[in-house]
Order: sequence, then C-alpha cells, then structure tokens
Amino acid sequence: MTTSINIIQPDDWHVHFREDEMLKVVTKYSARVNRRCIAMPNTSTPITSSNQAINYKKLIESNSQSLNFEALIPCYLTDSLNIDDFTYALQNKIFVGGKLYPSNATTNSQYGVNDIKKIYNIFEILEKENSVLLIHGELNRDDIDIFDREKYFIDEELYQIRNTFKNLKIVLEHVSSDYGVDFVNSNQNIAGTITPHHMLLTKKDVFNDKINPHNYCMPIVKNEEDLISLRKYACSGNKNFFLGTDSAPHQISDKEQSKEIKPGIFSAPCSIELYAQIFEEENSLDKLEKFSSINGPNFYNFSINSDKISLIKKEWIVEDFTVYNDIKIKNFYAGKKISWKIQN
Ligand code: DOR
Ligand code: ZN
Repeated sequence: MTTSINIIQPDDWHVHFREDEMLKVVTKYSARVNRRCIAMPNTSTPITSSNQAINYKKLIESNSQSLNFEALIPCYLTDSLNIDDFTYALQNKIFVGGKLYPSNATTNSQYGVNDIKKIYNIFEILEKENSVLLIHGELNRDDIDIFDREKYFIDEELYQIRNTFKNLKIVLEHVSSDYGVDFVNSNQNIAGTITPHHMLLTKKDVFNDKINPHNYCMPIVKNEEDLISLRKYACSGNKNFFLGTDSAPHQISDKEQSKEIKPGIFSAPCSIELYAQIFEEENSLDKLEKFSSINGPNFYNFSINSDKISLIKKEWIVEDFTVYNDIKIKNFYAGKKISWKIQN
C-alpha cells in the first residue's frame, strides 16, 4: 500500500478569493498547497481593467502568507471592454486570459455577456495573442433544465466558437457532465478543469427532501454516470484535463438564510487531499501529478514548478467551519474523514 507520495507542487487553475475580510481569511488555504492560482474575476465589481488586475493580484499575494505564491488574473469579459487596455494587459501578462460568464449563469454574472457574438472581436484578440479563453459553460434560460445548461452551452455556443477560432485555446471550466468531458476530449485546443466536488457528489446530495445549500454550486452536480466519466478523464493522465477546484466561499448566512441560495463550495482547506483520495480510489495515484502539476502549465504555456510537495496517508477529519471575525463559511466535506494529508 502506498503511504506517501511526492509530487511537483500543484497549481489551481480556478479559485475564488473574493475581497475584503473574506479574501484575508480564505487565501492562505490555497497558498498552503499551490504555487499559482487563477483568481476568478467575478468580484462584486468585476475585474475588467489592467489597473484592477494589478491591484487585485497584489492584494491576494499580500494576504497569502507565502513568499512564493502567485495569483493570475483573467479579465471578466463584457461587451463594453476597453479593447486597447485589454490588449495591452494581455501582451504584458497582466491578464492571464479572458473569462466568459454568460449572463446570469452564476454568482456575479449579471455583468456577463448576453449575446456572445458581440464579443467575437475579443476572442479574435485572445487567439492572436496566444492567450486563453476561460468559459463558464452554461446557458441559463427559462426553457433549459438546470441539469442541461452545460449541454446547451456546448451545442448552441461552444461548437461555433471552436469552429470560428480554431487556434484559440479554450478552457471549459469546472466541466460537470459526461457530455462535457467527451466534448473536451474530442476537440483540439480545448481543455477542462475538474473540481473535487463534481467527482464526489451527485444530485441526490443537493436535492433530497429539501435542498442542501452547501452542496449547491454551478454547474450543478449531476448523475452517477457523469461523476464516473469525470473521474475517468481526470485520472487518465489525458493532457487536456487539469486541476481547478472552483473553491468558492460564501458566508453561511448567504447559504442558509437567504431567499436565493448562493452557489459555491469552499473546498480549499482540503482540496488536494480530496483529489489524492479520489485518484487512489481510481487506482491512479501515479497520474495525480499530471493532473495537478503538469497538464495545466503545459496548456497555459507556463513553466512547471520546481518545488515538490508530499502527501502522506493519514486520517483526519475536516473542520466544520472556517471562522474569523465576522466571517463564517461551511467547509466542503465538513466532519468527514479524509485519508491523505499534505505535509507542511
Ligand atoms: O458554484 C459556483 N460558485 N460556480 C461558479 O461558477 C461561481 C462560484 C462563485 O463565484 O460563487
Ligand atoms: Zn468558479
């Protein structure tokens, strides 16, 4: 039985650090493991300019409690971006890419894009600069079932984006369905991030007698077959799948007492350990490093980290909450046992 593994230090290609007090509380959990994280730009005022990106990066790094941690910021795409500033920021690596939120797909996506054709000029710039288009791949429309939002996005938008911009690198973020991973696998220049929660939960964990707000996220978790496919691709070593936790903290009051439950799962305190556990369950611990530390930088054209981390076989129980002053967040996997632990 394997009792410890050493892997190249991971990167997390999809995290939400938020702002203010919440940012101060949550950032260190991602920085304890990862050398780099993509900090999603869906803050209350979205990050749409180079100045905002510079400031947001500094703010995160200065709260990381790590000397060697780097936050990478994508631009929140809108149809009214300042194109000169956007191009300048891509060329100077201030933006790591552009993030497309179709309007009203998730938290703070009300500033997102209604008519995606209107920002094809932006996709053209991303392609020309050899940058990356990150996509929240869901269409939220009254006639679309919540479980089919990813499929509709792929059919109605992504096929066309893919065919129009053949050299554009695209990441289908937090891919959540059998249909989605198959699409990623069968197309050029497209990758997918996979979260721990989409490989651990099914819709029964969200919708039971009543809704469990702490397992409510976007894209919504789906069926057993979807979970199995996600595990299969993540654990395959396939170069187009890599680590993105979508760790997305919300105040417990916004989950339990609010009329509209905020979608998002806070997994940063235990995400690398959960990935290790999943890979072990799939008899694929030898593929963990590809997923966590190699495929991502290769796709984004970054160097692979030089440091290593160790994970040891050790049972521990995830704390129920992350608490600090006015912040109280329910942790993913609260009260449950995990069999791996990072060595600090
Ligand atoms: O569940 C989610 N929460 N999915 C997202 O795409 C956004 C995130 C958030 O920002 O809360
Ligand atoms: Zn996200």
